Amino acid sequence: MGKLKIAVLASGRGSNLQAIMDAIAADKINGEIVLILSDKADALALQKGKDAGITCDVILPSACGSRDDYDKALTERVASSGAQLVVLAGFMRLLSPVFLQRFPNQVVNIHPALLPSFPGLHAQQQALDYGVKVSGCTVHFVDMGVDSGPIIAQTPVFVDDAKNADELAAKILVEEHKLYPQVIAMIADGRVKVCGRTVIIK
Ligand code: GRF
Repeated sequence: MGKLKIAVLASGRGSNLQAIMDAIAADKINGEIVLILSDKADALALQKGKDAGITCDVILPSACGSRDDYDKALTERVASSGAQLVVLAGFMRLLSPVFLQRFPNQVVNIHPALLPSFPGLHAQQQALDYGVKVSGCTVHFVDMGVDSGPIIAQTPVFVDDAKNADELAAKILVEEHKLYPQVIAMIADGRVKVCGRTVIIK
């Protein structure tokens, strides 16, 4: 099996991107990142990608007229990279049908809660406000909804003594950095199959 071509979309600091790059460098993922794309020119993720010698690009929303125009530009750029898997790593925009129809069951996201609990923004704060004892992270395929696509894998994290959202986020992030590369490795090995809402891992 050839190396899986991966595009990573990121808006922020890129710690998950770094974990994925490290796993590729350690031969734990049979893949290569062909493109890192951001909607923010100053995203730390871009610097991390450049430091690793990976092609990085920015498409600014302000450079595109409408949301549709933006997503068309995004779709074209990702398609032209030859990516077979699109990895959302802290990409802070919702993807429209234009994009998702071009990459069916080929877009994955990581969310810092045990879905379907606490989708959307501020998941760690939502979990604390609710008073749950266990939260965690979820890797899922992306569909038209918000954090609602078929779940591939989850890791639970005990809330324990986390006093605020930042402390809980830090505990969850440790597990994100393990889970996301593991899932991408399984996809690269052809072990992940979607059957309706159920994801089967061979
Ligand atoms: C992570 O908490 C991830 O779960 C969420 O966005 C954050 C991205 O962090 N989707 P980073 O940019 O990978 O450090």
